[in-house]
Amino acid sequence: MRERTIFLGIDVGTSGSKAILIDATGSVLAKSLIEYQLHTPKPLWSEQNPHDWWQATVQAIQNVLTISKTEASDISCIGLTGQMHGLVLLDQAGEVLRPAILWNDQRTGAQCDKIHNRVGIQRVIEITGKPALTGFTAPKILWVREHEPHIYKSILTILLPKDYIRYRLTGSLLTDVADASGTSLFDVGQRTWSDEMIQSLDITHSWLPEAHESPVISARVDNTGSKVTGLLEGTPVVAGAGDQAAEAVGCGIVNQDVISVTVGTSGVVFAAMPTYDREKIGELHGYCHAVPNMWHVMGVMLSAGGSLRWYRDNLVRVKSRNSEEHDISDYDALIKETAAIPPGCEGLLFLPYLMGERTPYADPLARGAFIGLTMRHTRAHLTRAVLEGIAFGLKDSLERARKLGIKFQKIRISGGGARSKSWREIMANVFQSDVTTVNVTEGAAYGAALLAATGGGAFDSVPEAVNAMVLDVDNTKPGESQEIYQSYYQQYSELYPALSHSFHTISALDA
Ligand code: XUL
Repeated sequence: MRERTIFLGIDVGTSGSKAILIDATGSVLAKSLIEYQLHTPKPLWSEQNPHDWWQATVQAIQNVLTISKTEASDISCIGLTGQMHGLVLLDQAGEVLRPAILWNDQRTGAQCDKIHNRVGIQRVIEITGKPALTGFTAPKILWVREHEPHIYKSILTILLPKDYIRYRLTGSLLTDVADASGTSLFDVGQRTWSDEMIQSLDITHSWLPEAHESPVISARVDNTGSKVTGLLEGTPVVAGAGDQAAEAVGCGIVNQDVISVTVGTSGVVFAAMPTYDREKIGELHGYCHAVPNMWHVMGVMLSAGGSLRWYRDNLVRVKSRNSEEHDISDYDALIKETAAIPPGCEGLLFLPYLMGERTPYADPLARGAFIGLTMRHTRAHLTRAVLEGIAFGLKDSLERARKLGIKFQKIRISGGGARSKSWREIMANVFQSDVTTVNVTEGAAYGAALLAATGGGAFDSVPEAVNAMVLDVDNTKPGESQEIYQSYYQQYSELYPALSHSFHTISALDA
């Protein structure tokens, strides 16, 4: 029999489901992303059909097996990750009761207030590591109880998105501690479901699946899962992790020396913690890490790369002649134009709150803005102000991590925003820290594959897997402009507090 040394990582994301295969040296053998729709049946609602996730995942698995000519029998272990906080409801027959309500759905403001009133906001933070926020799972359960009682009365199981894929693949109903930390029902310090939260909210405990540590094998592909995907019946599946913890594993964030910044649609600052002190979480959010006995704090900006994309799509011609001539992407062409603009954009600032904000201002009604426009400002100034504004928004979370006493030596940057050297220079100067990129760019799916490699026995621990596979490739040091940026950051920090009243008034006018 051939030795099985291939690991499969699956990421059930918001835009699509991605499968990757890696070998025992960490090399990526094949990857496939199959996209699906996001539905917005009403403003601020965000839903997806779990059957679409499953179909896309099956297709992605079949693609990577075919592309890499891998025999199913060569796959040693599988790791799952996915978008966090989503609510999947199953009935007694294991059928999906309604479309999944996603992490970026904003319908549950009233239910978050109810949770805070019932339990006390300080107590919610003590137990779950953060306030109940609109995208989280528990407020959505309350929303279904209030608005769809006919659905609520048929619930037998509550799952997170990747755990629905596990159910279809293995027949097992379970989750992991990192993903469970984003439900508002989990005791993050104790790494177990919180009886106090569950009882205070009158939720039935048995609806929630058991939570396992991320690299632990806790299910196996069953006969049905095998027939549909082509994977071998009995292939082990580790518990896996929510996408942020898995992304951090894929970036090597397993101690406090290195912190990560991920600039995708959202922007995430992620720091690992060897101990968990409920008192010291501050304005960042506390979660269990995908590394057993570790925790992490996280700051999430809702529109990081999303702000730049909005700017490009709406305020700039989509295809400039320049970008066609030189065959460079619109982003590269846009960023190139900013080279001659001085740091601070001659007094122009951008607030990136285009989808409201989560950290440090948990405010769904916060709005974006350009502040300080004059006749002198050109498109290049506006572009650079967007890049700087996103960096300032990320610095908000980094400063809060520094305040917690996390003495990181460098920041590893990943996601689409890591590709531009000029933007990395802006970030190094704004953050006042070295900014490095790493050899692997497959993000959460790669982290899930590393969890599978650990559970599958190729490594003794997640840190060992990470140290063997994840390496720095490029380092950007802060330079002279860091001083100028500190003055601009000071000004940036004063803008949200000064404008929040107006943002709320404007939202009321627009309601
Ligand atoms: C994390 C979060 C998002 C989703 C979707 O708290 O809300 O990162 O997991 O990727």
